[in-house]
Amino acid sequence: MQANYDLQQKKVLVTGGASGIGLGTVEAFLQCGAQVAVNDLAGPKLDQTIERLQDQGYSVTSAPGDVGNAQSAQDMVDNAILQLGGLDYLVNNAATPGTPKPIAADDFEQQTEAFWQQLISVNLIGPYRCIKAAAGALRNAKGAIVNTTSIAAFGGGGSSAVYSATKAGLVILTKEWARALAPSVRVNAIAPGIVDSDWQCKFDQATEGGETCPLGRKGSPEDYAESILFLCASAGYITGQTLIVDGGLSI
Ligand SMILES: NC(=O)c1ccc[n+]([C@@H]2O[C@H](COP(=O)([O-])OP(=O)(O)OC[C@H]3O[C@@H](n4cnc5c(N)ncnc54)[C@H](O)[C@@H]3O)[C@@H](O)[C@H]2O)c1
Repeated sequence: MQANYDLQQKKVLVTGGASGIGLGTVEAFLQCGAQVAVNDLAGPKLDQTIERLQDQGYSVTSAPGDVGNAQSAQDMVDNAILQLGGLDYLVNNAATPGTPKPIAADDFEQQTEAFWQQLISVNLIGPYRCIKAAAGALRNAKGAIVNTTSIAAFGGGGSSAVYSATKAGLVILTKEWARALAPSVRVNAIAPGIVDSDWQCKFDQATEGGETCPLGRKGSPEDYAESILFLCASAGYITGQTLIVDGGLSI
């Protein structure tokens, strides 16, 4: 990563932090000296990530929990703030496509009530639950929040219409929360394009490879982490914005 901030005193919580963009963001914060609580669903992926980062000597703690469950999200954020001793930056990155293959918008049968509810709960209410639990600590720290949306929010062809709707909702909530928490806390978002990650939904070969975007490659977790760090650690006069980070795909 190119950016090099001095974040020695900073305390960070990253949701969905054991993989992909979340993990890239965790590592970028750690390299800048921050203390990081890593949230993800409880299980071996999170445990192994924490173990590996601790073995590398980093100041990292585990924050297992499901942001798609109100009590679990509240407890997870409370515990993370307790362990860190405060919170400067919250990165709302956890999300799910809820499907291994893209669902066409006219395939109404596959977009069941349960599917709608899962995606809304994890992708849209999840960030709300975390912000609600973290708002006090973030206000005290005069901190910042970054939400991970998607270019699908702007009609960019995500894994389903439902997924796109949750990400578009998060763009609006980013503005609402920016107004609500100003002037003490800035709230911004990034909208990734093609990501080199273990995302559960697989697209066709040409899309996955990123050859179709002007910069000719998919974005690495580090590419996205760089923008998230910029919006947290710098960008002092930017709030309520969604930064499109997609190698030019959407132009
Ligand atoms: N991969 C893409 O094509 C793509 C494109 C645009 C935006 N995004 C967004 O980027 C973000 C990160 O995705 P990624 O590509 O790094 O995928 P990823 O699958 O590598 O990482 C997502 C992480 O979130 C975790 N997670 C899922 N549900 C959770 C829950 N309920 N509670 C806690 N953690 C949970 C997963 O276990 C996983 O570790 C997501 O918000 C996603 O919507 C992804």
